[in-house]
Amino acid sequence: APTNSCRHFLKLSDLTAEEARSLIDRAIELKRMHKSGEDYRPLAHRTLAMIFEKSSTRTRVSFEAGMFQLGGHALFLSPRDTQLGRGEPIEDSARVISRMVDAVMIRTFKQETVERFAAHSEVPVINGLTDRLHPCQTIADLQTFYEHRGDIRGKRVAWIGDGNNMCHSFMEAAQLFDFELSIACPEGYEPDTDFMEAAGDRCTLVRDPQEAAAGAHLVATDVWASMGQEEEQTRRETAFGSFQVDDAVMARASKDALFMHCLPAHRGEEVSASVIDGPQSVVWDEAENRLHAQKALLERLIAPHQ
Ligand code: CP
Ligand code: NVA
Repeated sequence: APTNSCRHFLKLSDLTAEEARSLIDRAIELKRMHKSGEDYRPLAHRTLAMIFEKSSTRTRVSFEAGMFQLGGHALFLSPRDTQLGRGEPIEDSARVISRMVDAVMIRTFKQETVERFAAHSEVPVINGLTDRLHPCQTIADLQTFYEHRGDIRGKRVAWIGDGNNMCHSFMEAAQLFDFELSIACPEGYEPDTDFMEAAGDRCTLVRDPQEAAAGAHLVATDVWASMGQEEEQTRRETAFGSFQVDDAVMARASKDALFMHCLPAHRGEEVSASVIDGPQSVVWDEAENRLHAQKALLERLIAPHQ
C-alpha cells in the first residue's frame, strides 16, 4: 500500500493558487539573488535523483545546475544503465531510490508512472514531463510572463497547435492563475477530454489559429510531434500545416503580445523564424527561468524548515 504523505509536484494543480503565486515570487527572488552572486545553499547534503526515460537538454541542465547552486547534488539516471531498463518494478525502484535521496525528478511516458512512483516514494517526486503534463515548464513560463508583463490574471492566452502535455499544463494554469485560454488545434488533436471538462469556461476550443490569437496577450505553441510520436511526423505535418504561428497570427494578437515556446522548436513548422527570433519572443527567458522556477520548487519541497 502507498506509504507516504509527502508533497509531490506531479501536476500544476498539486499547488493551491496561493502557493503557485508565491512560487513565482520566490523564483523571481532566487533569480535576483543568483544574479547578484549571493551564496545561498539551503540544500547542502541533499540529493536529487533524476530519472530520464526521454531525451532532455533544458530539464536536465536546469535541475542539475539548480541543485548545485543550492548546495546539493543531482544524480542523472537513465533506463539504459539502471535496473529500471531491465524491468525492475517502478514501485520497487521508488522504495529503493527514495531511501537514499531527498527528492526524485522523473521524465517518462505515462502520467501513471510518476503517480505510481510517488505513491511508493518516501520523498517528494517531481514530474519532469510526461505525455500528459509538463508542469515545470509552465511555472517557468508564468514567471516569464510576470517578469515581462506583470499579473496574468484576466489576460488572454492563445494556444496554437497540439492539445498535448504543454497544452494540458496551460489549461491547468488557466484555472490556477485565472486567465482565459483559447486553444486552436486541428481535428483529432484536441486536449484530453478530462482536461477540457475540468477547465470549464476558462478554456475555449476553436479551429482557426487567427481566431484563437485575436486580442491575446500571450501566444504559445509547441512541436507538432512530441517525443514518442516520431513515426507520426509526416501525418502530423499534414494535419498541422495551417497551424503555424507566423506574422499573420501574431498580427491578430494584442500589440504587446508575447510569444512562448517551451523548446526545442522547429522553425518553419509550428513557428516561423520571424516570430521565434523576433522582438515578441521570450523563449530564451522561458528556458533560463526553468533554472530559477525549479530552484524555488526544490527549496519548497526539500529544504528543511520551509
Ligand atoms: N522544454 C524542455 O523541457 O526541454 P528539454 O526537453 O530539453 O528538457
Ligand atoms: N511536447 C513536447 C515538449 C518537449 C519539451 C514533447 O513532449 O516532446
